[in-house]
Amino acid sequence: MLSLLPSDSDSKPSQAHDIRPRLLIVDDEEGPRQSLKIVFKNDYQVLVASNGIDAIAMAKRQAVDVAVLDILMQGMSGVELLAELKGIDPHIEVIMLTAYETLETTRHALRYGASDYLDKPFDILTMRAAVARAAHKRHTSLGIQTSQKQLEILQHEIQVERIQQEMARTKGEIYASVLHDINSPLTVIACFVELINRSMKNATRVEGKQLENIKDDFKQLQAQVSHCFEISRRYLSFLNASEHKTASVSVQQTLVDLKCLLTRHPGAHGHELIIDELSPDVIVEINGTDLLQILLNLTINAFQSTDTPHRVEVHSRCLLEPLPLDQWVDGPRERFINRDGFLNHSPLVAVTVCDNGPGIAPGVVAKMFDQHVTTKKAGSGTGLGLSIVKRLLKEANGALHLRTTIGGGSTFTVFLQVAGSTDVELHSSLTH
Ligand SMILES: Nc1ncnc2c1ncn2[C@@H]1O[C@H](COP(=O)(O)OP(=O)(O)OP(=O)(O)O)[C@@H](O)[C@H]1O
Ligand SMILES: [Mg+2]
Repeated sequence: MLSLLPSDSDSKPSQAHDIRPRLLIVDDEEGPRQSLKIVFKNDYQVLVASNGIDAIAMAKRQAVDVAVLDILMQGMSGVELLAELKGIDPHIEVIMLTAYETLETTRHALRYGASDYLDKPFDILTMRAAVARAAHKRHTSLGIQTSQKQLEILQHEIQVERIQQEMARTKGEIYASVLHDINSPLTVIACFVELINRSMKNATRVEGKQLENIKDDFKQLQAQVSHCFEISRRYLSFLNASEHKTASVSVQQTLVDLKCLLTRHPGAHGHELIIDELSPDVIVEINGTDLLQILLNLTINAFQSTDTPHRVEVHSRCLLEPLPLDQWVDGPRERFINRDGFLNHSPLVAVTVCDNGPGIAPGVVAKMFDQHVTTKKAGSGTGLGLSIVKRLLKEANGALHLRTTIGGGSTFTVFLQVAGSTDVELHSSLTH
């Protein structure tokens, strides 16, 4: 029961604004309880209780800074009460009072975090000094707690700010990437529209072979429009931070789509393109639009490496052994992308895009996978193509190896995991 007797609580009316430390005295003997109250009533807000239950209720109602507890009390002992009070506020300072101190009770009190012990009967000066020390300690620990909380709030605010800045930056990059990626199908769409316009220009009727050609062109148009939607869907899901699902795609189908896109792409005009089939076909762990985008960015770069007519080849093969990564060291002619995130578990598929163009200068090799690095003349390249390739490969736990020779062309090889197949299964499908 909470003691509401006026003689047992400090009755100063200005308690709400009282900034003096709050001192709780708990003793089942009336004499020491009252004498302590008289000693401390001018300097502290004094609460007194004659038993543990009342003391706990008081400590729950208002924060207590220092408690003076008699160890030996009827009912709940001082050590039990100490543990309860520390449970309510771990930083409360507690002084234990006892007439019959034993080693065992001292050990208990220590374990529960008492800050001082005084023998009964106590002398007033020692008691005053002990309570003053405890109050000072409490004041200091409250100050530290407040600073810690302020620090945490500040750290949280900095973190939120950083995330917002990162989001704003990422969104900017995403918008630029959308424009980069959507540019290829749009270019092809423009070509088909031009073709259809030309063949219909003077026609009053369209039939036979001409009609068939136009129908084919419309099919291609439809495919490119779907491609645009896929690209926008991919970036939207990235912006909405939707769950990353592991997707898979047929390598052969992707190569067919790549050929279809490149055949009409103006960047490929005047150059030779060779794309090998992959037989037997293999499914790899990556989203279909992502793989197409990677190969498209690499092949278009290869075509754009020089205006002089040259050859670009795309070959693919299955690998039944993990890659010898130690042998591939980044240098002026070589780069390996996503060494840390790459799952080098066989079976793997390697898709190689190579050209017999001019090769790449060492200074460019070192930074070409970073954003906005381009050697194209102002206004003709965003320098985003390879940074998109790097990001998409990281998302798929794949990798890329580049080898280049000045005057001897460049070879980019993309490595991806084969989906849900073991070496043995793949080996038997390759040999039968
Ligand atoms: N096959 C290649 N041969 C020679 N240089 C290349 C080749 N592929 C990439 N590069 C170099 O890497 C640079 C960066 O390529 P990236 O695709 O990131 O941007 P970009 O092609 O310049 O611009 P965008 O992709 O917007 O057209 C290119 O400007 C070029 O200097
Ligand atoms: Mg490019």
